[in-house]
Amino acid sequence: MEFNMENKVVVITGAARGIGFAIAEAFAKNRATVVIIDIVAEAVEKAVSKLESSGYTAFGYIGNVTDSAGIEALFAKIIQTHTKIDCLINNAGITRDNLVLRMKEEEWQMVLDINLKGSFICSQKAFKHMMKARCGCIINITSVIGIMGNAGQANYAASKGGLIAFTKSCAKEFASRGIRVNAVAPGFIETEMTASLSDEIRAEYAKVIPLQKMGSPLDVANLCLFLASDSASYISGQTIAVDGGLTMH
Ligand SMILES: NC(=O)c1ccc[n+]([C@@H]2O[C@H](COP(=O)([O-])OP(=O)(O)OC[C@H]3O[C@@H](n4cnc5c(N)ncnc54)[C@H](O)[C@@H]3O)[C@@H](O)[C@H]2O)c1
Repeated sequence: MEFNMENKVVVITGAARGIGFAIAEAFAKNRATVVIIDIVAEAVEKAVSKLESSGYTAFGYIGNVTDSAGIEALFAKIIQTHTKIDCLINNAGITRDNLVLRMKEEEWQMVLDINLKGSFICSQKAFKHMMKARCGCIINITSVIGIMGNAGQANYAASKGGLIAFTKSCAKEFASRGIRVNAVAPGFIETEMTASLSDEIRAEYAKVIPLQKMGSPLDVANLCLFLASDSASYISGQTIAVDGGLTMH
């Protein structure tokens, strides 16, 4: 997919691998200045050198989305180096699956902290800069699980459902400042997060997905590109699924 992202600074959290890296690669290919934030130092280095060796412009920073002071300092550094943030993509996310009766409070808290609070922390820092510029866009990577729920994933579903409500609230709060906020809800996407699923579970999922297959990280990246582009300038507060038709409203 081609969009002109020249002179756009795009910050993507959790982008050292998986869907986040595919998003980084797609924006870099479209000439954006890509800024990767991830908690795993070696993975950040590897991701940036992979993009640079393809001739793209990419920068990597080690950061934990739950560390408010660290993220504030990091965003200030990004502004100082790149002068602005046109788009923030809150992609960092984890799972700690368990049935509700067996779930440890730490499993609940960790997932809510990284998936939901982490997105709030990064958004708050980005909004401050975007408000001054009176433009910008934020894309929150939620999940179909936040729409449908899933047995064994109550913590993840709550975090991703919360992210959808957060998206709508921010879209309303910042619309008058020229800032758009949307959510992308991937279905079952082939990444390291889903690599541990057995062939049987994959076959079960494929049966309920109308397009009968798992998606690729690029499918998600393509929607992010569109939502960040000027072609989506009248779209805000939406949650758009990339799920082969799994969820239909
Ligand atoms: N893979 C799927 O099928 C699928 C489906 C729906 C939604 N999602 C969502 O898409 C996003 C990316 O998923 P993925 O499959 O690429 O996962 P992944 O595990 O492959 O990648 C997640 C990245 O986030 C980073 N990260 C984790 N905690 C962090 C923190 N505290 N601060 C900064 N970075 C941190 C990890 O180091 C990793 O690089 C997640 O939010 C996930 O919930 C994935």
